[in-house]
Amino acid sequence: MVVATFGTLSLVLSGITLATKSPLHARDDACAALATVLPQDVALPSTTAFTQSSSYWSQQQLETQPQCFVTPKSTKDVSTIMEVLTKGNFPFTVKGGGHIPFAGGSSIENGVTIDMVHLNDIKVSSDQQTVSIGPGNRWINVTETLDPLGLSVVGGRDMNVGVSGLLLGGGISYFSGQYGWACDNVRRYEVVLASGRVVYASPSENKDLYWALRGGGGLNFGIVTRFEIVAFKQGKIWENALSFPGSSNATVINAFQNLTARGFPADKAASGFVGINYHGSTGGYSTDVGLLHATVPSTGEGLPAVFRPFQRIPSATANSTVTADVSTFLKNFATPYGRRWTWGNVVVSASFSNKFLAEILSLYETRNVGLFKTQGEDDITPTALFQPIPLNVLEAMQKNGGNAMGLKPSNGPLVLISFPMSWANPQNDDLAYGATRKLIADVEEKAKKYKVYTPFVYLNYADAKQEVQKGYGKENYERLQKIARKYDPQGKLARLWKGYFKLDR
Ligand SMILES: Cc1cc2nc3c(=O)[nH]c(=O)nc-3n(C[C@H](O)[C@H](O)[C@H](O)COP(=O)(O)OP(=O)(O)OC[C@H]3O[C@@H](n4cnc5c(N)ncnc54)[C@H](O)[C@@H]3O)c2cc1C
Ligand SMILES: *[C@@H]1O[C@H](CO)[C@@H](O)[C@H](O)[C@H]1NC(C)=O
Ligand SMILES: *[C@@H]1O[C@H](CO)[C@@H](O)[C@H](O)[C@H]1NC(C)=O
Ligand SMILES: *[C@@H]1O[C@H](CO)[C@@H](O)[C@H](O)[C@H]1NC(C)=O
Ligand SMILES: *[C@@H]1O[C@H](CO)[C@@H](O)[C@H](O)[C@H]1NC(C)=O
Repeated sequence: MVVATFGTLSLVLSGITLATKSPLHARDDACAALATVLPQDVALPSTTAFTQSSSYWSQQQLETQPQCFVTPKSTKDVSTIMEVLTKGNFPFTVKGGGHIPFAGGSSIENGVTIDMVHLNDIKVSSDQQTVSIGPGNRWINVTETLDPLGLSVVGGRDMNVGVSGLLLGGGISYFSGQYGWACDNVRRYEVVLASGRVVYASPSENKDLYWALRGGGGLNFGIVTRFEIVAFKQGKIWENALSFPGSSNATVINAFQNLTARGFPADKAASGFVGINYHGSTGGYSTDVGLLHATVPSTGEGLPAVFRPFQRIPSATANSTVTADVSTFLKNFATPYGRRWTWGNVVVSASFSNKFLAEILSLYETRNVGLFKTQGEDDITPTALFQPIPLNVLEAMQKNGGNAMGLKPSNGPLVLISFPMSWANPQNDDLAYGATRKLIADVEEKAKKYKVYTPFVYLNYADAKQEVQKGYGKENYERLQKIARKYDPQGKLARLWKGYFKLDR
């Protein structure tokens, strides 16, 4: 029997023949090999542990099921797992908080998902200057530890988002105006390399890796098993949430552009965003504004002066103010699980004209109304989300030798425009992806036409097909490639760690 002969042959020849066997065998072998070293920590389908690890924010990720999950309990376990996987040439991925939306972002078919969930300790240093955080934590776990101590860190704004992905891809926070993006505030990483070796990266150890891990895409370099990040004294924070009709978009965005160019650099504790949201029930739009401040205005002072121009805008349909601790904000901002999602982003100069704005919003409207022939075919929730990258943030990004993203104050104040959208029916996946990719490409064209284009794309909001690191500039791209080759000389991660935003080797 030919099949049996091949089976025997592949037992005789080791290593290389594994790759020529069917993917099913390869997967079984990976889980079996892991179970020989970590028998308690391998979860096969239809077990409670498998279901627990299958918690993903988007449905597309949830539906992408691995042959098994492996759940390390220590750095040593991660090192053992890495050795087994890279020696056996087994495909894998790594899951932090599972909030990347697209299939395969931190999930895999025909492979192993390493779920970091049990690496979840959080330790505040005795001088309260830093916090050491395991990669299995969600941001709520960090803030619930820090709030009672009157401390905080530059971290996520949604309770369930994982610390890992957010810190590796950038990290826009309530505190970014003062301290930069979250990645700019990582002091030290503990990393398991492709070989299984554990190394540290900081301004004084493996400086090249330290630079690369701040925006370069974790999967190109290694598995982070610990983040040490800067802590600071922090009390409650404040927000004024305003809503205006969709037709006020230009008035509101103009105030937001001015806030980005002039307001934020003058008041670094301030942050904010504008969302132009579509409501399927009415077929209409609203212009929703979040104005945040890291210090609570004293009674009598009223609103922080920097936000006053927004108060003069007529026809507000909602106007509420909240003062609360950071954990409460994270809970209020939590975006529910259970939907299908896609997104993508374009970053432009904050000086864009009203003509540019009108043309891109028209493209956005066309995408939204053009998705389905009839209203009610699916239930979509599109947003055009505008977030600031003001000069004070660009300046804070230069500390510790700068990050890998390559943005400089000379790029001028920027606005990050992202287009997240959810829907329910899997049959509409291709429509949603196609229409959103076209929208992104068309907005980029408009940005070029109006001379406000930048090649920079924010990794954490990028579509799977966006070439993120190429937008960091040729020099940074080549430097990242060189660092990836140094720490993964055999290109094991490049071949085996499935996922997105990989550097060309
Ligand atoms: C509802 C929601 C709110 C958000 N809010 C914000 C926000 O306020 N600010 C902001 O900047 N971004 C925000 N994001 C974007 C967010 O930063 C990214 O989605 C991020 O990747 C999520 O991290 P995660 O650990 O949950 O993701 P995962 O999907 O688990 O991982 C993301 C990527 O990191 C890799 N990875 C995970 N763990 C490790 C590790 N230990 N070592 C190496 N690589 C690893 C994965 O393989 C994957 O490629 C938000 C996203 C959502 C869905
Ligand atoms: C993280 O926080 C959530 C919400 O408070 C909690 O349910 C969970 O147990 C926490 N995880 C850890 C490891 O403490
Ligand atoms: C933006 O405002 C303009 C002018 O009021 C309006 O014509 C357009 O429909 C608005 N766009 C959206 C998406 O609300
Ligand atoms: C622009 O911002 C400056 C500084 O915050 C403020 O004084 C001014 O009123 C703003 N102008 C508009 C039109 O919003
Ligand atoms: C929101 O309410 C405050 C307090 O009543 C008021 O001063 C402000 O003008 C309102 N803002 C808008 C945009 O209507």
